[in-house]
Amino acid sequence: MRAADTVTVTVTPALSIAGALRVPGDKSISHRYALLAAIADGRSTIANYAPGADCASTLACVAALGAIVSRTPAAAPGEPPLVTIDGRGLRGLAAPGAALDCGNSGSTMRMLGGVLAAHPFISTLIGDASLSRRPMRRIIGPLSQMGATVTAGPGDRPPVTIQGANLTGIHFTPETPSAQVKSAVLLAGLQASGETTVLEPASTRDHTERALVAFGARVTVDGRLITVKGGQRLSGVSLNVPGDISSAAFVAVAAAAIAGSDVSITNVGLNPSRAALLDVLKRFGAEVEATVEGQWNGEPVGRLRVRHGAMKDLVITPDEVPEVIDELPVLATLGTFGGSVSVSGAGELRVKESDRIAELVAGLRAMGADADERPDGFQVRGGRRLTGGTVHARHDHRLAMAFAIAALGATGPTRIEGADAVAVSYPAFFEDLDRLAQRPN
Ligand code: S3P
Repeated sequence: MRAADTVTVTVTPALSIAGALRVPGDKSISHRYALLAAIADGRSTIANYAPGADCASTLACVAALGAIVSRTPAAAPGEPPLVTIDGRGLRGLAAPGAALDCGNSGSTMRMLGGVLAAHPFISTLIGDASLSRRPMRRIIGPLSQMGATVTAGPGDRPPVTIQGANLTGIHFTPETPSAQVKSAVLLAGLQASGETTVLEPASTRDHTERALVAFGARVTVDGRLITVKGGQRLSGVSLNVPGDISSAAFVAVAAAAIAGSDVSITNVGLNPSRAALLDVLKRFGAEVEATVEGQWNGEPVGRLRVRHGAMKDLVITPDEVPEVIDELPVLATLGTFGGSVSVSGAGELRVKESDRIAELVAGLRAMGADADERPDGFQVRGGRRLTGGTVHARHDHRLAMAFAIAALGATGPTRIEGADAVAVSYPAFFEDLDRLAQRPN
């Protein structure tokens, strides 16, 4: 295997984006299915489990905690293998023999933290250089309040050490909207005595709530108030993971931005708490058709078609940010094709896999964009065609892919250094993009 951060990919301009695509399994949903399967009774099988490094980190961690994880070939050719997990039951995980490596995955560290807080042993969660810079105070507070002893490095950054305990349910109101933090508290609450509630300051993705129901638990959702009763046992189940709308976002944005484009994405998750992207694309002027064709384990799934339309200026307001947080890097690139893009209330971007405000603006400027940082967002002024150039992905999968989309509209080629970062969520991204990009012969 090649060492990370050694691959440079050159992306050349495209005339348009066209064709059909199936994106990899949803990363957020895959993490949750793996974690719940590990603490369920019996066997779960997960089809279309996300192929990236982040979700592999979750599987490695639950295996190190005694869940039996195996892969068997999928029923249909070309599909990813089925992941099978034999769970250890509620509070049944075993003490790990070494530190648990969460790699680049904040979701793994924060949500697994909630699971481990209820287990009567000490565990230490570590991550790569990027994850080791990310704030963990947000889980340390509530998990400590529930009765676990949780410590971290300077500035409440990883490594995180957890001495689990018999937890007591709490009523928790996070300061910042975060599905990872909500999930950590709900997972701890499932294993605590009494009831646990989370009152969200703004709605975030609700996959944990839906996944708990799929595994047989009862969860009450009343607007932004979520309640789970402790002590409910989960049952192993057979699951199918919808395609990841956050991965689909890259080609969807390219289709919205480039004249003559038309892409269809099949079997993609259309959960309303993830689909705000589609409203933003419509506001930008794209023709967007989203058709829900079914429910997979309580998650709406269907078809998405995006076509280019007249481009308008786009303003993304603070209240919209939590529901498009992962799509903001690629939405920024819309400003390099035509109308301008302005985002505020998105200070959280500074504590993602990279400082996504600083690195995004630096990369787009290196390609010729007229872009500026704000403390809590950015502005990309439209009307200046990119030239291309050399950018660095900064160990951030979504930056690597966002730069590739911007590159399609440049006048010359763009070299993306550290492009192997895409392996975190979408290993086949460049192959898929090449297939859809229409280029002069
Ligand atoms: C995620 C929640 C979001 C998102 C991340 C995945 C999840 O993070 O940015 O990529 O799966 O719950 P926050 O909870 O930190 O907002």
